[in-house]
Amino acid sequence: MTDLLLQAAQVLRQAQRIVCLTGAGVSAESGVATFRDALTGLWSNFDPEQLASEAGFAANPGLVWRWYMERLQTVERVQPNPGHTALAQLEATAPHFVLFTQNVDDLHERAGSRNVHHLHGSITRFCCTSCREEHYLQADERRQPLPPHCLYCNGLVRPAVVWFGEMLPYAILKEAWYAVEHCDLLLVVGTSGVVYPAAQLPFTAKQYGATVIDINPEPTPISEMADLYLPGRSGEILPQVIEAMVGGGD
Ligand code: OAD
Repeated sequence: MTDLLLQAAQVLRQAQRIVCLTGAGVSAESGVATFRDALTGLWSNFDPEQLASEAGFAANPGLVWRWYMERLQTVERVQPNPGHTALAQLEATAPHFVLFTQNVDDLHERAGSRNVHHLHGSITRFCCTSCREEHYLQADERRQPLPPHCLYCNGLVRPAVVWFGEMLPYAILKEAWYAVEHCDLLLVVGTSGVVYPAAQLPFTAKQYGATVIDINPEPTPISEMADLYLPGRSGEILPQVIEAMVGGGD
């Protein structure tokens, strides 16, 4: 096992308050395209603003609805990967653990993670564009080519995800700031670290004295500032680190 993996395992073993921040890279090995890869194939001639924005939805609700329902079908079809499972195991062994994800899928929860907060919302939940009331849609409603209308105000129902130009859920963001200001270890996995305010969290953690570990096959602004950068895929690295941490592996 590499020295970096053993160092990471040692730091994790000693940490008392662990915060984890994940991005699309964690779900990539389950077959869920990363956000930027998701705009390929049939959707390659659309820019994110057209598909993941209030204006885009207002201009063409059917197009945006079908893009999200196609991504939701993918999420429902795939399974959590060893990286998701390793994070659930880490939560079970750490004294204090909280996970903030930028991902809108539910793979962390399906892998057994419990203390999960979605900074960018959730593709498996729905709300009204106008009155924001939450809606529970049956499978046949989700298969329709057009979004349903709100039961309360007749507005259009949309996926409960954060779109470009929208604010993140304040309560969750406030909890994330508090968590990174009071943790002794921030584990960052599978994010390009270019979308704020989520990308600011590792810098705040470091400013408040936490150790920062980053796992990503590609270097990012976060890997450059991290105390430990483990280059590689999360589904491969996380299980090894957790095994070494729990097993005291040398
Ligand atoms: P990105 O698509 O920007 O970046 C995915 C990151 O995962 C990249 O740095 C990849 O190198 C890395 N990666 C790919 N495969 C990996 C693997 N197997 N293991 C570990 N890392 C891997 O996705 P995010 O950083 O999550 O926001 O994007 C952040 C936000 O940008 C998204 O949540 C979305 C978008 O705007 C909203 O939808 C509001």
